[in-house]
Amino acid sequence: MPEHDKQKEAKECYPEIPQKTEGFYLKGCGSLDWGMKNRMGRIFNSESGRTVMLAIDHGYFQGPTSGLERVDLNILPLIPYADTLMLTRGILRTIIPPSITQSIVLRVSGGSSILKELSNEDIAVDIEDTIRLNACAMAVQVFVGGEYERQSIINMTKMVDMGTRYGIPTLAVTAVGKDMKRDARYFRLATRICAELGAHYIKSYYVEDGFETVAASCPVPIVMAGGKKIPELDALTMAYKAIQEGAAGVDMGRNIFQSEAPVAMIQAVNAVVHKNESPEKAFEMYNTLKNEG
Ligand code: R5P
Repeated sequence: MPEHDKQKEAKECYPEIPQKTEGFYLKGCGSLDWGMKNRMGRIFNSESGRTVMLAIDHGYFQGPTSGLERVDLNILPLIPYADTLMLTRGILRTIIPPSITQSIVLRVSGGSSILKELSNEDIAVDIEDTIRLNACAMAVQVFVGGEYERQSIINMTKMVDMGTRYGIPTLAVTAVGKDMKRDARYFRLATRICAELGAHYIKSYYVEDGFETVAASCPVPIVMAGGKKIPELDALTMAYKAIQEGAAGVDMGRNIFQSEAPVAMIQAVNAVVHKNESPEKAFEMYNTLKNEG
């Protein structure tokens, strides 16, 4: 037994300094367990509290989408500018180098194709494989108002239960049917249902009128879905407005990888998300980077 040195002991224990009890920077995530918080923290940057998710999972229901035909050639150069990659296990295992430091959000629902009813999905990845792949979250499509609404919601709640067992968050992806009206009322309904049933964060489309009410009435972080390709300045403007109106990031695919200059575009999106860059400045940045080749 070392000699009892009361003075030294008191010094090393720093009794005058209370231990810091950190809060957690993400909305609605304060009561999550350590592993969940750590994984959410690998998706959402702790300084900005936001994320740039690069969505490249489109092939799970529509095959080789334009811009994603060669993920090795077209997508790998974009990875350094993303916080997170959202993709399927097929593309992850076959093409993405395991040495990347970006977090992975794994597409775990599937079972339908563009040739049939899209909402007829099931859980398509075992939780064990999600763990094996070291994913930071699981993405499940939720079709509120769709033909298979109940089935898709239950897919999500099953993943929430399984993920909770292992500390893996669930991202609910609100999918809007062709005939449904994309307005704030719909997205308030869809995002809130997902959050009430346990989703840890939610992907929603941007709406011009009332997006701030969608973000405010959802108790967990919302990331903005990109949607079909629009001109670069418009996409940057949409991302800027979503962020300023309460989104905690973007989950963009086509507006990045189908851009004329994807590497420049993802850097411009990154500046809008993490640095509150204005759409005009970000577009200038896009053009400069594009011209630099
Ligand atoms: C579709 O459901 C997929 O989840 C995509 O990841 C999603 O649509 C985002 O990609 P985009 O920005 O191209 O719409």
